[in-house]
Amino acid sequence: MIDDKLKHLAIIMDGNGRWAQKKGLIRSLGHKEGAKALEKIAIYANKIGIKYLSVYAFSTDNFKRSEAEVTYLMDLFVDTFSKQYSKYEKNNIKVIFSGTEKGLRKDVIKTMHEIKEKTKDNTGGVLNICLNYGGQEEIIRAAERYHEDLANKRVKKIQINRDNFYQYLDNNLPPVDLMVRTGGEKRLSNFLLYQLTYAELYFIDDYFPDFTPKILEKIIDNFYKRDRKFGGINEKKNKN
Ligand code: IPE
Ligand code: IPE
Ligand code: MG
Repeated sequence: MIDDKLKHLAIIMDGNGRWAQKKGLIRSLGHKEGAKALEKIAIYANKIGIKYLSVYAFSTDNFKRSEAEVTYLMDLFVDTFSKQYSKYEKNNIKVIFSGTEKGLRKDVIKTMHEIKEKTKDNTGGVLNICLNYGGQEEIIRAAERYHEDLANKRVKKIQINRDNFYQYLDNNLPPVDLMVRTGGEKRLSNFLLYQLTYAELYFIDDYFPDFTPKILEKIIDNFYKRDRKFGGINEKKNKN
């Protein structure tokens, strides 16, 4: 049973390209399969009661890739979002985005606005899609918003602490409890740096297109066995 111990799950959806290459296919086909895997995972996470799911769809640094791959990915976003939104709608999932619109194509931004608008009243769970996203850039944007509030005297310095600073991030979501990265790499690649402070981290070798609700279920079982201490001591386990 999912409870408040697992409010926010985050996934770095990595390994699409290698998944395709391993099968002798072009990288783009890996992205296409990845998009399908995301839909299944998002609906499953919502069904089992995870309130917030953040997924890394495209990092700002991914613009370093070939023009052909970036164009394919942007086309895929437009196509996928326009189709997937009705499934999210049906499942009462609210879709939001983190990242910056600066540098994104107009049709991508339009599609993002549409899906956000169409799902804004849904109350069943939140899917936060990190698109054109970087964790350091998000912290800089938050600092700018905080600075503006200070300058306009909307807030006093002493009122802001690490818990309520979340209000200045792209979305005011709770800290991440569990972070899964598929594809075998053991790094954060500039993902949710502020929100991951005390998250439990899972790095698995499966490529994202092979990631299934069943694999997630196992990870969650394991997560519930982990001892989260947040810098303190688990009083029940350590009597002295
Ligand atoms: C993740 O898969 C998807 C995006 C970054 C858009 P990759 O494209 O990074 O796949 P690999 O890591 O090269 O296999
Ligand atoms: C992180 O994966 C970004 C996404 C999954 C969208 P990358 O494949 O871009 O990360 P690096 O380059 O291996 O660090
Ligand atoms: Mg990768």
